[in-house]
Amino acid sequence: MQIFEDILTIQTRTKELKASGKKIGFVPTMGYLHEGHIELIKRARDENDVVILSIFINPLQFGDNEDLDNYPKDRENDLIKAKEHGVDFVFYPTEKVMYPEPMSLSISVTKRTNVLCGRSRPGHFEGVVTVLTKLFNICQPDKAYFGQKDAQQVAVVDSLIRDFNFPIELVSVPTVREADGLAKSSRNVNLSAEERTEAPSIYEALKFGHSLTEKGEQNPLDIIKQTRQFLENKTRGKIDYIELLSYPELETVDSVNGQVILAAAVKYSKARLIDNLVFETSQHA
Ligand code: PAF
Repeated sequence: MQIFEDILTIQTRTKELKASGKKIGFVPTMGYLHEGHIELIKRARDENDVVILSIFINPLQFGDNEDLDNYPKDRENDLIKAKEHGVDFVFYPTEKVMYPEPMSLSISVTKRTNVLCGRSRPGHFEGVVTVLTKLFNICQPDKAYFGQKDAQQVAVVDSLIRDFNFPIELVSVPTVREADGLAKSSRNVNLSAEERTEAPSIYEALKFGHSLTEKGEQNPLDIIKQTRQFLENKTRGKIDYIELLSYPELETVDSVNGQVILAAAVKYSKARLIDNLVFETSQHA
């Protein structure tokens, strides 16, 4: 496994690989790798000749009051895990390397963003698409792997790839969960012991909301209200949002029909957790 810290060296290498017909699978991360990331790496390993993992905590996607300073880091362990799971190249740039000077261009995300995390994290998805545009140009992947836990990110990356014609296939990999259902996240380590026991209720609430649709409930507002009540009874975390939208368009729906996402974000003292369920429904006459 090779570690690259500067752009030109890895970009030259990826150009050579592409010229020799190799398929590149790319897993962009902010490090502190957990089983969710490992799933992405395994999928990339199975489907490509070369696997590139990037580890970069992108300051552009954090707001002023967000957890950039608390974001966990463990370079040594990340590199061990990457090697263990067959990563070929790790791109590990510093902030200075990625942003040697303030950007003179910015990308604005105009759809799929004024809802869910986009609403409570202004500028977040602009930061994500900016760093991904750079990383895609640097790593030149054929396929890029993202976790479905960040379903809105998947929807926005889908727009990025299509709007800007990146010759990249987006692969969305199902959420990996702890035994009690909590979605794996690098942020889970920032939960107190008490918060950790309550946090699986986020997924329970989403499953409860989904079960209402299976029983024939079609009114999104009722589903959201009941899901919220369920969750409020189970956790003292502050509910940032519970939303039910079409997926991947992320538009409000009058009635639950077709592919939808039921998503929640909950703020704990030092971690904001998100989770979602995407499911198909069809209205019966
Ligand atoms: O999902 C993440 O970890 C980040 O948003 C990403 C895709 C690596 C961009 O910084």
